[in-house]
Amino acid sequence: MSLTLSKDAKTAPQAGRRLLHGIGGGAPDPGLRTHMERWGEVRPPRHLIDELEASGLVGHGGAWFPVATKWKAVASAGRRRPVVVANGAEGEPASKKDALLLSHAPHLVLDGLMLAGSALGAQQAIVYVPATHMPVVEAAVAERRAHHLDRIPIEIAEAADTFISGQESAVVNALGGRRGAIPGFVGLTSIRERGVGGRPTLVQNVETLAHVALIARFGATWFRHVGTADTPGTMLLTINGPDGPLITEAVLGSSLLTATGLRPEAVARAQGVLLGGYGGGWVTPAAFSELTVSEKTARRAGATLGAGVVALLPPDICPLAEMADVVRYMEGQGAGQCGPCVHGLADLADAMERLAYGGASGPRVERLLEICGLVEGRGACRHPDGVARFVRTGLHVFSDEVASHQRRGSCAKSHAARVLPVANATARRRLVAKA
Ligand SMILES: Cc1cc2nc3c(=O)[nH]c(=O)nc-3n(C[C@H](O)[C@H](O)[C@H](O)COP(=O)(O)O)c2cc1C
Ligand code: SF4
Repeated sequence: MSLTLSKDAKTAPQAGRRLLHGIGGGAPDPGLRTHMERWGEVRPPRHLIDELEASGLVGHGGAWFPVATKWKAVASAGRRRPVVVANGAEGEPASKKDALLLSHAPHLVLDGLMLAGSALGAQQAIVYVPATHMPVVEAAVAERRAHHLDRIPIEIAEAADTFISGQESAVVNALGGRRGAIPGFVGLTSIRERGVGGRPTLVQNVETLAHVALIARFGATWFRHVGTADTPGTMLLTINGPDGPLITEAVLGSSLLTATGLRPEAVARAQGVLLGGYGGGWVTPAAFSELTVSEKTARRAGATLGAGVVALLPPDICPLAEMADVVRYMEGQGAGQCGPCVHGLADLADAMERLAYGGASGPRVERLLEICGLVEGRGACRHPDGVARFVRTGLHVFSDEVASHQRRGSCAKSHAARVLPVANATARRRLVAKA
């Protein structure tokens, strides 16, 4: 069946709803016709990397690294033609924004991947996604192939359902068929120089690529219309609150409380707010209400926005039990190849469980902080550092609960249902192990 695509240029959205522009609450329509009607054909500027530099776009997979700097590093890495990878692994259980983009706007991601491929003269382009998203991506790639949209064929590779499968060197290892999706002992620079198949490799989060697709259409000046001079544009947030996980697009530099749409009363009642997911950090509700959507201010508050996870901890939940379960989950997700993951995270999980579920006179805070200090900065990747930040900040924000557990032992709330999605992930892991 042939289909005529609208190739007219479209008007750029002027408000802060960009990636989510045209995406409503109904059933997703990820087809090429809808995509073209919404965004029109891409006619990229001649010097896309310069445009990206002018836009100030940074990566949205958690590290906030400037996109143009990375592309330049790959472009100048050597004479072998590079590989470009769209990272849709989204291993963080509390994040759903990449899943939403892949299910509702796969062509925006694929446009971004193809733009990266063209700008860098790549010979291979790969979309790396969990099995659940493969059918929608396969359908999108087939449509593009039928319309001869892309200069190089797009391959699709399955990301393992683990927390670290999306870490950059784990992606490269998985795609190279080496040792599965576990991080390797190589720095970021060397992936850019020698990644998949020994070629210079660009790994870019799927949201980042979707922003690239819009900057290529509407330009850096348009991108900077919202946000601040330092942090232009928007970012997707996954809000784990009373209404379940919701995805929203937030203008950088705006009030975080307003951007999340969380009711101030719900925030005031909460015991704490987790920012940046399980490798992120806890802040008090009062601190959260003062924050802007900015990695800098989140860092100043001891946390990170990371890939945009926000999770509210309601009053009827034991924060220490939540933390203990997450730390145990994260311990099981380490690749088991460095000391901090093999020993340190296991010790941390044991200590957190004794504090949360044990009797009075559980481990002292000093002991927990000591273990955090022992794992930080010692792994081949930043997995242990994230867990240490999660624990450190939690012990501080929930200091009253810690003191109460140390005086009286485990509380009744520690057996309430969990709000942070760990049980599912653990159950999923058990099923995989059984199969
Ligand atoms: C433990 C760990 C897990 C990560 N998981 C993901 C992930 O699931 N998806 C992702 O895009 N980036 C993930 N990252 C970040 C990647 O290493 C990398 O920085 C990112 O994919 C680069 O794309 P960006 O610059 O567009 O953000 C992870 C990093 C760490 C340390
Ligand atoms: S620090 Fe942990 S997750 Fe990272 S490479 Fe080492 S064992 Fe793997």
